[in-house]
Amino acid sequence: MSLYEVIIRDWTTRAPSDVAPLAAGRLEQADVIFLPHLRFEIAPDETRLFDPAILGPAKNASFDPQRGRLGRTTLEGADAERLRALMGRFSDGAMRVVEALCPSYAARIQRGRASFRPAEIAGRASTWRKDDTRLHVDSFPATPSGGQRILRLFTNVNPEGRPRAWRVGDDFEAVARRFAPRLRMPLPGSGRLLALLRMTKSARTPYDALMLQLHDRMKADAEFQSRSPQDAIDFPAGTTWLAFTDQVSHAAMSGQYQLEQTFLLPVDAMNQPERSPLRVLERIKGRRLA
Ligand SMILES: [Fe+2]
Repeated sequence: MSLYEVIIRDWTTRAPSDVAPLAAGRLEQADVIFLPHLRFEIAPDETRLFDPAILGPAKNASFDPQRGRLGRTTLEGADAERLRALMGRFSDGAMRVVEALCPSYAARIQRGRASFRPAEIAGRASTWRKDDTRLHVDSFPATPSGGQRILRLFTNVNPEGRPRAWRVGDDFEAVARRFAPRLRMPLPGSGRLLALLRMTKSARTPYDALMLQLHDRMKADAEFQSRSPQDAIDFPAGTTWLAFTDQVSHAAMSGQYQLEQTFLLPVDAMNQPERSPLRVLERIKGRRLA
C-alpha cells in the first residue's frame, strides 16, 4: 500500500489531466488516494450539528442520496434539515470527485449511503466484531455486495484540527491466503434462506459469506492485529482520501467528525478485475463465488 497524492482543491473541479488515467489503477492496486487540499467547508450555522448527541444510540448518522433521506439521528425540524443539506452537498461533491478521478468508472459506479460520524472512535465501547480499531476489510452483513467493489471516500471535518488516525495493513491476497484455510464455504441454499427470512436484502453469495468470515477472523486474531505488516497514517483535518475498503485492510484508531460516502462498482467495470477480492478468493478457493 502507498498513498497516492493528488492535488484537487474543490469539489467541482476536474482532476489534473495526468491523474485521471492513473487514479483507478492506483486504487485497484490497493493504494489510498490522498487529497491533502480537498477540504469540506462547513457553514457557520452547521457547526451546531457537530455534537455526538445528535446520534442517539447509533454509530453514525446516515443519508440516502437516492431518496434524499436522513437516518439514525435524533435531530428534528430545522436542524435535521440542516444536516440533510450538509450531507446532500457532501454526497454530490464526493460523486463529482470520483467521476473526475476515475472517469472510466463513471458509467457503472453506484452511489450508496453517506454517513456522518461525530463520535470519537478511541475508547468506544464495542464488541470485537464491531471494533473498527482492529484491522479489517469491509463487508456488509445485511446488504450483500455479490462481489461488487466497495469504494469509499472519507473527509476529516474535525473542527479542532485533530487528525483521523488509521492503520493500513497487508496486501489483500496475502491476508486472504493467511486466513483461507479457516474460511468455510456456506451451506448450499443458506444465502437464499437469509434473504427469505429478511435477514439480508438479497441472497448472500458465497463471496459475501467468505468476506464476512474474513472480516471476523482478522478482527479476532490478536497476533495478526499486532504483528502483521502495517503502516500508521494520520489524515489531517481538512483532508480527503479514497480507498477500496473491501481490499485495503484498515483500522480507524482515533478521530472525531468524519464524512464518508460509499460507492459500489461492478467487478467488470474495473481496469483490472483480477485484482478484485472476488477474483482473488475465487483463485484461492478454485471455484466461482458469485
Ligand atoms: Fe471499515
